Amino acid sequence: MKAAIFREVGKPLQIEQISISKPGPREVLIRTAAAGVCHSDLHFIEGLYPAQTPMVLGHESAGIVEQVGSDVTYVKPGDHVITCLSVFCGHCEQCLTGHMSLCASAEVRRPADEEPRLSHNNAIVNQFANLSSFAEQMLIHEHALVKIREDMPLDRAALIGCAVTTGVGSVFHTAAVAPGSTVAVIGCGGVGLSAINGAAIAGAARIIAIDMVDSKLEMAKDFGATDVINGRNGDAVEQVMELTKGGVQYSFEAIGLKQTAEDSFRMLRPGGTATIIGMIPVGVKIELMGAAFLQEKKIQGSMMGSNRFRVDMPRFIDFICKASCI
Ligand SMILES: NC(=O)c1ccc[n+]([C@@H]2O[C@H](COP(=O)([O-])OP(=O)(O)OC[C@H]3O[C@@H](n4cnc5c(N)ncnc54)[C@H](O)[C@@H]3O)[C@@H](O)[C@H]2O)c1
Ligand SMILES: [Zn+2]
Ligand SMILES: [Zn+2]
Repeated sequence: MKAAIFREVGKPLQIEQISISKPGPREVLIRTAAAGVCHSDLHFIEGLYPAQTPMVLGHESAGIVEQVGSDVTYVKPGDHVITCLSVFCGHCEQCLTGHMSLCASAEVRRPADEEPRLSHNNAIVNQFANLSSFAEQMLIHEHALVKIREDMPLDRAALIGCAVTTGVGSVFHTAAVAPGSTVAVIGCGGVGLSAINGAAIAGAARIIAIDMVDSKLEMAKDFGATDVINGRNGDAVEQVMELTKGGVQYSFEAIGLKQTAEDSFRMLRPGGTATIIGMIPVGVKIELMGAAFLQEKKIQGSMMGSNRFRVDMPRFIDFICKASCI
């Protein structure tokens, strides 16, 4: 099959022919219908996060099941699915306490002494996030996918595979935004716009979108932002403080920068919570004013929106279909 191979930091991906193995007992072979480019893929290409090359990137995808392993009963050939990098084992401490997006079990991968899922001239091609969707087919663990309704267009379904689940999930699950509250979202790409959308669904009364690109801010309004700030026009924190008369209850950083992560904390009102979604480059430290903790300000991370994707993703599709599709 054809795949886009990542061989060297900073270099373009190369389209090459590689081999894909047959499904093991708990694996599923999928024909990729669509794959989004999430900024996380780019962080690896830029070398801000380490990757084992050669590798096939891509993790925001949807497709159709082609073949299933001998023990798989959840899906069958022809089923439409969204993939998710939050592959869960189902029986570790994280899974059993409801934190499946934090599962780190090795059993969802193929052991090193078995034939690799992807290869080129008999040498391993590494799988990214246990998915590798910049390819015509994906071979993944059965717990890395969710079955979806077939009237949902697969190109849009793919975006639920990461950006939507991460943005909406960080609002619903990680931060648990309360109706009537005030929210700021820094960065209006796929993830930030989804956080704005989630905040609107959660009933936030005021949603402030911050970006440096006016067209992104226009889109933010369509997704539910009530106010927009272009970071090029002066200090965003000062503007948020002014607009809200003292800061927001919830802020979300959806870029992956030290400065904006620190800003997300600085724009909180007492008792507020900052949620860092962006991938801050490895080794970068975030600095905060210690005295702010006396005002019960909080800061936390979010991994893939703290999802339970087999429950969340079909619900997100129902929201979309209720509003627009098909
Ligand atoms: N935590 C997770 O599980 C998770 C999941 C998915 C993505 N991410 C991360 O979330 C971040 C966003 O991903 P994305 O795909 O939405 O990215 P994106 O590139 O689509 O969006 C980033 C947005 O930030 C804006 N921006 C950049 N610098 C800015 C600045 N200084 N001030 C204001 N706005 C600025 C850009 O104009 C753009 O609209 C990335 O770091 C990505 O790796 C994390
Ligand atoms: Zn992603
Ligand atoms: Zn687990």
